[in-house]
Amino acid sequence: MILRKKLMAGNWKMNRTSTDAVALAQEIVVAIGKQAEVDVVVCPPFTALESVGKALDGSTVKLGAQNMHSEVSGAFTGEISAPMLRAFFATHVILGHSERRTYFGESDEFINKKVIAALKHQLRPIFCVGETLAEREAGATLKVVQTQTERGLEGVSKELATSVVIAYEPVWAIGTGMVATSEQAQEVHAFIRSLLTKLFGEHVAQKVRILYGGSMKSANAAELLGQKDIDGGLIGGASLEARSFVELVKAATVAK
Ligand code: 13P
Repeated sequence: MILRKKLMAGNWKMNRTSTDAVALAQEIVVAIGKQAEVDVVVCPPFTALESVGKALDGSTVKLGAQNMHSEVSGAFTGEISAPMLRAFFATHVILGHSERRTYFGESDEFINKKVIAALKHQLRPIFCVGETLAEREAGATLKVVQTQTERGLEGVSKELATSVVIAYEPVWAIGTGMVATSEQAQEVHAFIRSLLTKLFGEHVAQKVRILYGGSMKSANAAELLGQKDIDGGLIGGASLEARSFVELVKAATVAK
């Protein structure tokens, strides 16, 4: 059996100026910047990537971005490319977040191009999938997750697939305080792993980490992180305070 190291990622979304982001990063570094039992990533806004990267220097906490364009450079006003993220020593990038899909009209095809581009530039995609409440109520959860996963990972080689991190984020649980039960989450995570087995084979599928995201906090983390196919968390609100984020990382450390 392959043991997957847990990964806890903080998605700071559109919060914190560069100065405030550095203060938050410093607090996190002081509390958990030396532990290596769990992989920890923080994803500040673009404007704070460079300063937070410097604050993380010498710690085990890694730097991630929240989005990027699939092209390397060119006339794409307001966009940021993979090489630009690499220049700040980012190692991860969140792609296909439901907020990008919903508010900015990102399609599976576009997200797929970004996944391919991230991998080409040695960035690990934290590739997000998840159903809306209406889709869950219509019994379409697995179908929706299947389509997003298959389309988003089209053309990814077996070799590079192990660098992909998948985040299952039920849209109805994001920022709502409505968390998926551990059974609901585990069901979808196991389903995603079965899709990965079909796409890349058992060995690769067992290596890929699948994070849960959506109102994860210390009250529900232990139970979620204790599930067989839940390999960490993508955390929004609770990652904006060092104390609550650190508690979640500690919960991942003890989760079996
Ligand atoms: P919350 O933890 O605030 O629900 O956000 C989850 C999320 O969207 C992380 O990407």
